[in-house]
Amino acid sequence: MNTPDHCQQKLVWDVPTRLFHWLNAACVLALMAIGLVILNAGALDVSNDGKVALKTLHVWIGYVFALNLMMRIVWAFVGGHYARWRQILPGGAGYLSALRDYLAAFAAGRSEPWLGHNPAGRLAIGVLLILLTMQAVTGLVLAGTDLFYPPLGAWIAQSIAAPGVDPSTLVPYATALYDAEAYARMRELREPVVNLHVWGFYLLLAMSLLHMIAVVVTEIREGGNLVSAMITGRKTLRGQPRDAESDATDREPG
Ligand code: HEM
Repeated sequence: MNTPDHCQQKLVWDVPTRLFHWLNAACVLALMAIGLVILNAGALDVSNDGKVALKTLHVWIGYVFALNLMMRIVWAFVGGHYARWRQILPGGAGYLSALRDYLAAFAAGRSEPWLGHNPAGRLAIGVLLILLTMQAVTGLVLAGTDLFYPPLGAWIAQSIAAPGVDPSTLVPYATALYDAEAYARMRELREPVVNLHVWGFYLLLAMSLLHMIAVVVTEIREGGNLVSAMITGRKTLRGQPRDAESDATDREPG
């Protein structure tokens, strides 16, 4: 592909990073949409069967989401240069001065190209990863308390089954099969987990919107074809990036 002389193209995002990104985006979108309906099930007059169906679909997508997130966490230890923790999280030597420089350049209307995430982007990625992990962990707990699904479902069913009831026969909303006291205790323990899951949803919604706005604004100001780079893996940069590596073996001819 031809690029103007003052531009350079470089492979930045490896295949696993790109696959994670788009699968994660699709799962988060679907989980938010279904979660919103579950959240408003009362107002929408959804039946118990409807709620179980929505939660079951939400949990199956949630498993894909959690597995994808786990693979990304592993990839941050073993993956390519720009996929690693040092490049995606805030912190490390010189981070604060790089963030100050980046924000000063941004405020002055100057562009400061970065190959990987810029320092402000790393801050956002850190917050996003914490929120995604919180949703995965709380969601996996709720899958057990609400549907008796793995990883905790069998253990929860065992702890709330009424005397003489086979725990493996428990189904959601069949309170006659539950030991009333044990069920009430489980619901009490579950409450802070639901609250975290719902707060995580609102915060993730806000952060996802901020992330999309920041990508569009940065692409307009600094170039770097950020959106298509997450598809092709290649960024086109105007000027020398702050985080350029010494070797440029995969640089394409200008
Ligand atoms: C981006 C990730 C996620 C988002 C934004 C999200 C969002 C939501 C929302 C808004 C609700 C409704 C809460 C309520 O009505 O109390 C909900 C419920 C639920 N979520 Fe998620 N969720 C996510 C991931 C997961 C995962 C990974 C799982 C499990 C594998 C999961 C399992 C559940 C379950 C079982 C419920 C029903 C809880 C209830 O009845 O209140 N979620 N989710």
